[in-house]
Amino acid sequence: MPLTPAFEASVYKTRRDEVLRRMREMTSGPAIAIFPAMPVATRNSDVEHPYRAHSDLYWLTGFEEPEAVAVLSTQGDKPFTLFVRPRDKEKEIWTGRRAGTEGAVKNFGADQAFEIGKLGDELPRLVGSARTLFYRVGGDDPEFDSRVAKLLHALRARARAGVNAPPRIEDPGQIVHELRLRKEPRELDALRKAVQLTRKGHLACMKACRPGMHEYDLHALLERDFREGGGRGWGYYPIVAAGENATVLHYNDNCMPIRDGDLVLIDAGAEYDLYTGDVTRTFPASGRFSAVQRACYQLVLDAADACIAATRPGETIEGLHEKAVRILTEGMVKLGLLKGEADQLIKENTFRRYYMHRTSHWLGLDVHDVGSYSIDGKPRPLEAGMVFTIEPGLYIASDEENAPKELRGIGIRIEDDILVTNSGHENLTVSIPRSVKDVEAACTR
Ligand code: GLY
Ligand code: MN
Ligand code: MN
Repeated sequence: MPLTPAFEASVYKTRRDEVLRRMREMTSGPAIAIFPAMPVATRNSDVEHPYRAHSDLYWLTGFEEPEAVAVLSTQGDKPFTLFVRPRDKEKEIWTGRRAGTEGAVKNFGADQAFEIGKLGDELPRLVGSARTLFYRVGGDDPEFDSRVAKLLHALRARARAGVNAPPRIEDPGQIVHELRLRKEPRELDALRKAVQLTRKGHLACMKACRPGMHEYDLHALLERDFREGGGRGWGYYPIVAAGENATVLHYNDNCMPIRDGDLVLIDAGAEYDLYTGDVTRTFPASGRFSAVQRACYQLVLDAADACIAATRPGETIEGLHEKAVRILTEGMVKLGLLKGEADQLIKENTFRRYYMHRTSHWLGLDVHDVGSYSIDGKPRPLEAGMVFTIEPGLYIASDEENAPKELRGIGIRIEDDILVTNSGHENLTVSIPRSVKDVEAACTR
């Protein structure tokens, strides 16, 4: 794990100061916030999954080691406490260098640092002095939830001795996720680097694909290009789906043969400094779309283009979804997939037979990034600095008896990463071929 943060330490301090400012604004009396690391996940036997930091902790500290806990406190002269794994010569021989408490202070800007083994001693003191505890119950670590619950129980049990448990518990996501939703210029730089690597991988697949290859051959190219140039690898497990596999939304076996006449759907994004791209392209294995494939592809592209063109501050993700649904539904009727009036087919959700997911989600450190989608029960207006996907699709199951035979087994998604700007939008992934002509040219051998 890196012994220094990706950005200069002052970046994280500015973020923490803003979080603390908002904590004070929301509360009266002392408040603390606890951000635990992501737990290590076992893959099988004594093999672990590669470790990936928790995005909230990473955004606040730049710290990537497991078994860490960050605590922010609105009181006293040490607002930022970091609990970390101890330096350990023996363990570091096996699993690599650790920052230790010294590195936590020197490189990561902690006002004080403790070894993680001291958490049981220090946390009651920190939590016991607060009126409000910011902790995301039901987050990513149920064991830590139970640790916090036990701690609160222990504090309450000592009420007669004058010990307090904070009477108020708040979700720190209200603050941190709102801040993460609006990307800083340096975060956009990282996202652009993720997109560059993502582009390389998608282009390599379009160029290399031949009928007779397997999905895993293309997956292998993605793995290479997502690492080369300093990428961390993929930000989510890639989908490489040929033929009817493309109609399975979360297909990721990536092991089947690619046949002549198949469309290949690849949904894959590289991760750079823990920021991820999220891009889907669909291309013909043979290099040329058939007439029906082209008609379906153009419909999805029209929906994507209309949504992208409409993106500007004040527009909503809900509004864009409705736009995509209308265009796709009208197109489904034209293609003979549905019969009836678009209004009715939309009202009755009939379009979901072929378009069953939402059109957009926030994007950033997490592929389905944080931030609420509504405010006071209403769709949230987009603002400059937000990044989200536009990803309409059309999925016609191979056993869908309502569909014309020649359309069965076609799965198409086109997914781009869109930055909202003051004047409208920027499609960060526009240079990854999208039009029929550009896709076919990228597939040219
Ligand atoms: N790759 C996940 C998604 O498109 O939402
Ligand atoms: Mn997506
Ligand atoms: Mn995707």
